[in-house]
Amino acid sequence: MNLHKFDSEAAWIRGVVCCWLDRLRANPRLRMCLTSGHTPLPIYEAMARAATQAGLSFRRAEVFALDDYGGLARDDKGRCQNMLRRHFVSRTDLPERRFHTIDTEANELRKVCRDYDRRIGSGFDLVILGIGLNGHLGLNEPGSSPRSGTRRVELHASTVTASAKYLAHANLPTWGVGVGLKHLLGARELWLLANGPKKARIVRRTLKGAVSVQLPASLVRRHGNASLFVDATAGARL
Ligand code: PGA
Repeated sequence: MNLHKFDSEAAWIRGVVCCWLDRLRANPRLRMCLTSGHTPLPIYEAMARAATQAGLSFRRAEVFALDDYGGLARDDKGRCQNMLRRHFVSRTDLPERRFHTIDTEANELRKVCRDYDRRIGSGFDLVILGIGLNGHLGLNEPGSSPRSGTRRVELHASTVTASAKYLAHANLPTWGVGVGLKHLLGARELWLLANGPKKARIVRRTLKGAVSVQLPASLVRRHGNASLFVDATAGARL
């Protein structure tokens, strides 16, 4: 895994955006799987601005939401697809039909998952993920199979607690539907993003600890084209 360490958060944002612009320039049909969470939000906003300034378009690209919580209102601001739309998609010229989301409130969840896997089809050119404090990747909690596809997942207690920071109410989700490790680890390129001192410990375990399904983020080290982008504080223990 390539390590990109930046002196400041501003430099970290610029560094990721610069690489992302390159990928979009090289491949206007870039198929991306994007996480929500707080980590990437300033990068998404900066990327939308930078692409416009550079005259780059998302018209032929595709974005797949990484996951979504179940049991929340469709317009809940804390849902992955709503965060992605607010901080990224709505700021770009990506056509709505090229923004793929998971309808966790549909009656037939198995069909929703099958359809999502079918739409993912030939896979992702670029996957952008944060790292959970327990090493999860999206909804792939510790112990998830590296062969898993899109599926319903029961959230770990720590993930339920962590979800409160995205929500304006106390009705915390206990499950969700997320893209599985098979598609994430099968992507042509995979980036992990981390900033802030709270991530320093898990960043160290991801890079220096044992590679294990008990720490999904560590599995990225087996990927042949993966990068970890950290600011100085998240990378402080490396
Ligand atoms: P965060 O979440 O970006 O809000 O820290 C990361 C994650 O849990 O995957």
